[in-house]
Amino acid sequence: MTNSTPHLIAFAGSLRADSYNKLLVNNAADLARANGAEVTVIDLKEYPLPIFDEDLEKELDSPELTQLRKLFSSANGLLIASPEYNGSFSSVLKNTLDWLSRPAQDQSYSPAYGQFTVGLMATSPGGLGGIRGLSHIRELMSNLGSLVVPNQIAVGASYEAFDDKGKLANGAMSDRLEALVKQVIQYSAVK
Ligand SMILES: Cc1cc2nc3c(=O)[nH]c(=O)nc-3n(C[C@H](O)[C@H](O)[C@H](O)COP(=O)(O)O)c2cc1C
Repeated sequence: MTNSTPHLIAFAGSLRADSYNKLLVNNAADLARANGAEVTVIDLKEYPLPIFDEDLEKELDSPELTQLRKLFSSANGLLIASPEYNGSFSSVLKNTLDWLSRPAQDQSYSPAYGQFTVGLMATSPGGLGGIRGLSHIRELMSNLGSLVVPNQIAVGASYEAFDDKGKLANGAMSDRLEALVKQVIQYSAVK
């Protein structure tokens, strides 16, 4: 790794053990590493946070939140795959992003969104692949000062989109995912 190597955090907005979005973001992470990025894949299931509450934040002592804050402070990009729930992105993703948008009470953490370049992706069993949720994440991340790259991908028919090793079965879709992660790497170099 060099100083110019982008460090990306990759995660899915799903807690499900057999999540297709976890598979998708793992594909993205592999492609990003192959294109020179350092990537840390995290599973939000390992970072359980209560529903955000301004009263609770004054007293919450959460090692998971401390760890997430450290990780996010060290990153300059995010790869996010979110399920589409009722036409938007998942509540666990929103909750995690909300917690990380707040400074730590002891000033040990300031929200790091302004330093992020973000790549968005989704997969769902339906034909649209969860694309409706992506416009909502794009708006949220842009509001927080992140640079969301123009490319994005939504993979339909998730139940047949991955092979038995969890790789995207469709080579053209994998190429589109690679173009997306390359854009994240390129844009993060100039942000
Ligand atoms: C509450 C809920 C709402 C959903 N709404 C949508 C939807 O609007 N569009 C869609 O394509 N799929 C929808 N689904 C199906 C999810 O896309 C599907 O469960 C998907 O596999 C979840 O992602 P995961 O495999 O990464 O956990 C919904 C599922 C749940 C549980």
